[in-house]
Amino acid sequence: MPFTLVIFGASGNLTKRKLVPALAQLFAKGRLPQNFRIAGVARKPMSNEEWFASLKDPEGPADWPANWPSDWETRSETQTEKGNIWRNFAHHMTYISADGTSTEEMDRLGSQLDSMESCETPTRIFYLATSPELYQPILRALTPEVHRLRKKGVDCRIVVEKPFGVDLETAKELNAALRNVFPENRIYRIDHYLGKETARNLLVLRFANSIFEPLWNRQFIDHVQITASEDALVGHRAAYFNRAGILRDMFQNHLLQLLALTAMEAPASLDAESIRNEKVKVLQAIRPFQTPEEVRARTIRGQYIPDTAYGNDETGDALAPATPTFAAMELHIENWRWSGVPFYLRSGKGMGCRTTQILMRFRKPPHLLFPKTESCAPNSLLIQLQPAEGIQLGFVTKVPDTEKEIAHAAMSFTFARHYRDAFPEAYERLLLDVILGDLSLFIRGDETEIAWKIMDPIQNAWDTHLSGGDPPEFPEKYEIGSWGPEGSDTWMESRGQQWFNVCPVLPKPFGQ
Ligand code: BG6
Repeated sequence: MPFTLVIFGASGNLTKRKLVPALAQLFAKGRLPQNFRIAGVARKPMSNEEWFASLKDPEGPADWPANWPSDWETRSETQTEKGNIWRNFAHHMTYISADGTSTEEMDRLGSQLDSMESCETPTRIFYLATSPELYQPILRALTPEVHRLRKKGVDCRIVVEKPFGVDLETAKELNAALRNVFPENRIYRIDHYLGKETARNLLVLRFANSIFEPLWNRQFIDHVQITASEDALVGHRAAYFNRAGILRDMFQNHLLQLLALTAMEAPASLDAESIRNEKVKVLQAIRPFQTPEEVRARTIRGQYIPDTAYGNDETGDALAPATPTFAAMELHIENWRWSGVPFYLRSGKGMGCRTTQILMRFRKPPHLLFPKTESCAPNSLLIQLQPAEGIQLGFVTKVPDTEKEIAHAAMSFTFARHYRDAFPEAYERLLLDVILGDLSLFIRGDETEIAWKIMDPIQNAWDTHLSGGDPPEFPEKYEIGSWGPEGSDTWMESRGQQWFNVCPVLPKPFGQ
């Protein structure tokens, strides 16, 4: 199916680091149709050659665009073949200098696209890879009056990146602006976590196997931990982070999406609306925080202690004292499946390692026959989303040649052991889905709003605590390289639980 992809923000980082490499990779795999165009749009005047040059890594080999494709060192194509693929791919790309917020310039862009496209191009995809402040001005310039850009008979779609607003109110405004120009079923809100193979595999694990479903509920699950830990610091994004903080950056989107995939009911089919309806239902069932006291009791926030000796590259603005770089919270889903099962979510920067994992902790056996059962960790199912994607089942076995001694054991599966090819980048899958028109793993407007309804009371309470004279230990400081503030461990202990602090439990296979 021929298509034209118009990327607003063509000179930006997202285009260079994620979009072009993912498209090039799809092209190299033969997943793109014969007839497609990529129009890179940005204000900066540049020739095509200058744009291509800007996409390349100055340190990398000639004919090799930046960040593209990371697994090619392990693939068989020679350097020349790789260069040829890039050159053939680049034939499909055109740079257009235009101001995406100007109606006149968008009209001009429309005629340029008309002249580039074959008359059969039935799909135009607009990708907002700009800073979020430009979303609404660009949407205004894309209104139906600009006929050339949104031609009759052409299927127009829009792709928009997080953040979808900064709170419920701004999310509603953005949704209204998007729906003013595109119907909801043509709006692709990207959360790149949903493009990760292991996030997608959650649906397969849960709904293509029958052994997990009988256990996947309040009767057998004691609690669930979802951790997204990053060793990276905030770095040059301190100014953004001071505005966003960890809640808006990681929880409202990625962590709640992982929770939704973990806790949703089986959809009737794999079509987009069935999946999104189930995700919405589970998010709606999360009990909102009612009072600032409840927020104080059920959340933790922290900030890492900047340490230049640790390679802290915060050369830009410094972190403001109140900016949380770590948070943990306890959420409850009030429905028949999950009532009484706490979901612990946690994410932080400057932690000991990078790992994203979902831990399903099972209940203890009802009757402890063996003397040391109490000291063994209860059964667990660990889904490691990154860095080494896989699954581990934790159980207890007898220690051989002892009478009754028992010990913890684990069965592990890693994708890399079974599948030679490296995992595709999330953007590869997501861009292909946009091209194919599959909305199932994109976020619907109502989902973003419900997610803000869950997060807003926490952010508001944190802001109020601060202005109300919170003691200076909020957010609590933590050492870079740790598992967050000490208070996070004691908070978990006060709930009779322990964080699964293993970094990451499934190792990368040798040589990766
Ligand atoms: C982004 C956040 O959405 O996700 C970043 O803005 C974060 O702060 C990143 O580092 C994490 O993504 P990943 O794929 O590296 O886990």
